[in-house]
Amino acid sequence: MLFLDQVSRLSTHLCGIQLVNPVIAASGTYGYGVEFATVADLNAMGGLVVKGLSREPIAGNPPPRLWEAEGGMINSIGLQNIGVRAFVDQKLPALRNLRTAIFANVFGYAPSDYAEVIRVLEDAEGIAGYELNVSCPNTKHGGIYFSSDPALLGDLVSLVRPLARRPLIVKLSPNVARIEPLAAAAEQAGADAISLVNTFVSLAIDPHTRRSRIGAGFGGLSGPAIKPIALRLVYEAAKAVRIPVIGLGGIRTGEDAAEFLVAGASAVQVGTANFWDPGAPGRIALELDEYLRQENIDNVRELVGTLQI
Ligand SMILES: Cc1cc2nc3c(=O)[nH]c(=O)nc-3n(C[C@H](O)[C@H](O)[C@H](O)COP(=O)(O)O)c2cc1C
Repeated sequence: MLFLDQVSRLSTHLCGIQLVNPVIAASGTYGYGVEFATVADLNAMGGLVVKGLSREPIAGNPPPRLWEAEGGMINSIGLQNIGVRAFVDQKLPALRNLRTAIFANVFGYAPSDYAEVIRVLEDAEGIAGYELNVSCPNTKHGGIYFSSDPALLGDLVSLVRPLARRPLIVKLSPNVARIEPLAAAAEQAGADAISLVNTFVSLAIDPHTRRSRIGAGFGGLSGPAIKPIALRLVYEAAKAVRIPVIGLGGIRTGEDAAEFLVAGASAVQVGTANFWDPGAPGRIALELDEYLRQENIDNVRELVGTLQI
């Protein structure tokens, strides 16, 4: 239960979307939201990004798909999802009653895939904005990742932008030498915000079988282990653009969230922490409020980008 003074301290907005607090559940770690309704108060979080949606259903990668690493988790789910049309028909109706902002995470393997998913979502109500997961290989372009090439990324965002009446967030990958050119390419092509980071490509090995512990070979590392690198990337990206930045990577407490805001993020997302505490986004919002109260900060927006190096 949030009280009025907490609401005013935490309330913020993100590219025109009003949020009761800046803490959002991250894509792929909160299903389609509805599955968590019995174990968490979905209205306690500022927003919820649903599992990545593709034009057709995807069965995902062979098991094992998860490995608990030191201070984090490696996953290779393979973007399993029910497909955008089933999401609109079966999941979205129950999400419309929430005050929480619902973000649809969209992905594909060719620009036309992204465009088609957006077209289907445009006909539906109850979505606050889109988050493009660009950490996918462009199979029409030799398998180069959209997220690793500023020109490819710019072309993708330029194609999708005019199709979307809602704010467009571009979610960047951390698996690049320099984040600034990618952040700038997304902004120049019309993104309303960027979010980062997605997972770090990684490998876990069983020394006895000498095989990967992940069925598909590599997986993506997330959780507390990545937080210091994510903070650095969020800081660098926020310096490179004027649009809002959403920061994520290993957040598990209100103070972790505050660190990302100080680094330059206007809002944060919480992913892996949901696996051990499904109420994490709401709890983190309350902890952030307590931090603001103790620091005598009237509103969370005052924190954004206040890092001094
Ligand atoms: C099991 C799992 C599934 C994920 N699926 C998606 C996805 O479908 N789309 C996406 O953009 N990110 C996906 N992610 C990445 C997270 O949204 C987030 O960017 C990443 O885990 C870093 O945040 P964290 O350390 O708080 O988990 C997934 C992460 C995990 C752990």
